[in-house]
Amino acid sequence: MCGIVAYIGPKDATPFLLEGLARLEYRGYDSAGVAVTGRSGGIKLRKVKGRVADLAADVPARFKGTTGIGHTRWATHGVPSDANAHPHLDNADRIAVVHNGIIENADELRAKLTAEGVVFRSETDTEVLAHLIAAHVTEGGELEDAVRAALGRVVGTYGIAVLDAEQPDRIVVARNGSPIVLGIGEKEMFVASDVSALVRYTRQVVHLEDGELATVRADGFRTFTADARTTHRQPSTVDWDIDSFDTAGYEHFLLKEIHEQPGSVERTLSGRLDERFATAHLGGLNLDARELREIRRVKILGCGSAYYAGEMGAQLIEELARIPAHSEPASEFRYRNPVIEADTLYVAVSQSGETYDTLAAVQEIKRKGGRVLGVVNTVGSAIARECDGGIYLHAGPEVSVASTKAFTSTVVAFALLALHFGRIHDLSPADGRRIVSALQALPDQIREVLDQSEAIAELAAEYAESAGMMFIGRVRGYPVAREGAQKLKEISYVHAEAYPASELKHGPLALISPELPTVALVPDDELLDKNLTTLGEIKARSGRVIAVAHRRPEEKLVDHCILVPKSEPELDPLLLNIPLQLLAYHAAVALGRDVDKPRNLAKSVTVE
Ligand code: F6R
Repeated sequence: MCGIVAYIGPKDATPFLLEGLARLEYRGYDSAGVAVTGRSGGIKLRKVKGRVADLAADVPARFKGTTGIGHTRWATHGVPSDANAHPHLDNADRIAVVHNGIIENADELRAKLTAEGVVFRSETDTEVLAHLIAAHVTEGGELEDAVRAALGRVVGTYGIAVLDAEQPDRIVVARNGSPIVLGIGEKEMFVASDVSALVRYTRQVVHLEDGELATVRADGFRTFTADARTTHRQPSTVDWDIDSFDTAGYEHFLLKEIHEQPGSVERTLSGRLDERFATAHLGGLNLDARELREIRRVKILGCGSAYYAGEMGAQLIEELARIPAHSEPASEFRYRNPVIEADTLYVAVSQSGETYDTLAAVQEIKRKGGRVLGVVNTVGSAIARECDGGIYLHAGPEVSVASTKAFTSTVVAFALLALHFGRIHDLSPADGRRIVSALQALPDQIREVLDQSEAIAELAAEYAESAGMMFIGRVRGYPVAREGAQKLKEISYVHAEAYPASELKHGPLALISPELPTVALVPDDELLDKNLTTLGEIKARSGRVIAVAHRRPEEKLVDHCILVPKSEPELDPLLLNIPLQLLAYHAAVALGRDVDKPRNLAKSVTVE
């Protein structure tokens, strides 16, 4: 999705802007642009459809200024083009604006401004903001007042950064539904929509709240509300490792992040397991044992892979704590006027902590008096701040668009929550110990699966050209199948369907043929026999089968088998999922796809 960067300080802004935009590339975009100003006055502007590298090549050496803004655009209003790329200027070329989000009353404002004589140069909703701000600029007036007045006429979501050629000593930023982070440097300030753009320059950051604005100068900032009341914001320190933003010798971020999982799982578990009482400690829940015992249901909300991780989480909670639990796409939940119950615990899942649908679902629950926990990777993100408590994943930054290590850490976090819940209900100490030991063993077991990467690459190359792939699993295996299919389709563009193995005979068996191979999750659990019967049914229809199993099924039932180490049955899905990440990755590589930035997708979906 769109990305924002800005700089003000003694140096030339352009190198930071271009580097910052390159750091935001992972979010997905189709065009990029920068605008700078300085003491010499006027605004210099460059914007192109295409990559940040194309923009950098287009920026001349004399493109210098000490105050600048930059943007990567992911088209919503109008096609990807040079004209629609941000920044957008007013007709006097005095005000420049970059914007993330959607202005809902843009058409109405555009008509009014056109009637007043404004000439539009793009099809975007953002350009409306540039003209509106310009319309409110008064002789000798402050830029921040013009921005406040303009935003007062706007309906929609935004994160914006605004330059004024007449006031080059400041940038005004505002946030409503789209993140804006200020980075505090030594006599210089940075702004971005995502800390990954800033982290090389400063670790001291301030996250703006919704409805907040800031005037940023080289020597500091002032935050305030739409009605000009000053707010007081304390900087926080980002603890992310800078190396997370490099591929560290791997061919892609995705492969690196898949291989980071032993370490990221260790961090999710770190300090949270209690061997003595066979439970988990989760300091951030903000719920005591009495409050937790009053909970009768758990409703988990997330989008895409976060929703599938929630499905695994729901099963863990039901199995270990015997509390009814269910996962639902947050994007659906928020539109169906859901019944919010006092004895239900709502859990919002998000890697980025920015997904707009998930954030909107959290806000709706809270409006109706519900209690929401967040299972979130990004510290200080909008969803994390909106929730009443939660569990941080500590998986480290995830750069590749497809989620892998955050997915795994989310399921681990749910295992901790389920264990904690279970032990204050009726999970026995022996069962608690069984889960604690299995969680401790996970990092090494993940390493064992990762060691098979080359063999899985060969398999992926053999199957990558298939017309499609079927993924099947039973009960605990079904969310694994769903996530496996999701990963394959998003990065390799191979059509993939996930079905409960039990449902195959009720329709999709008609699809089975040598052209549609099946990836079958076959854990060694109480449903093994049923799964083997399903494999027999597929083979009887000349289907090809790749089994992901703990034990190799009979030769006649499978064409290939990927073996994974056995955990406890409740935790098996975690390990069964890892080979599917590798299968998707290697299939995408075999097909020459843009693995880290798949077409049409964005890392954080900050719009509806
Ligand atoms: C899948 C994927 C998406 C995200 C979804 C939610 O690989 O990356 O399906 O999982 O957009 O994103 P977060 O977790 O940031 O809320």
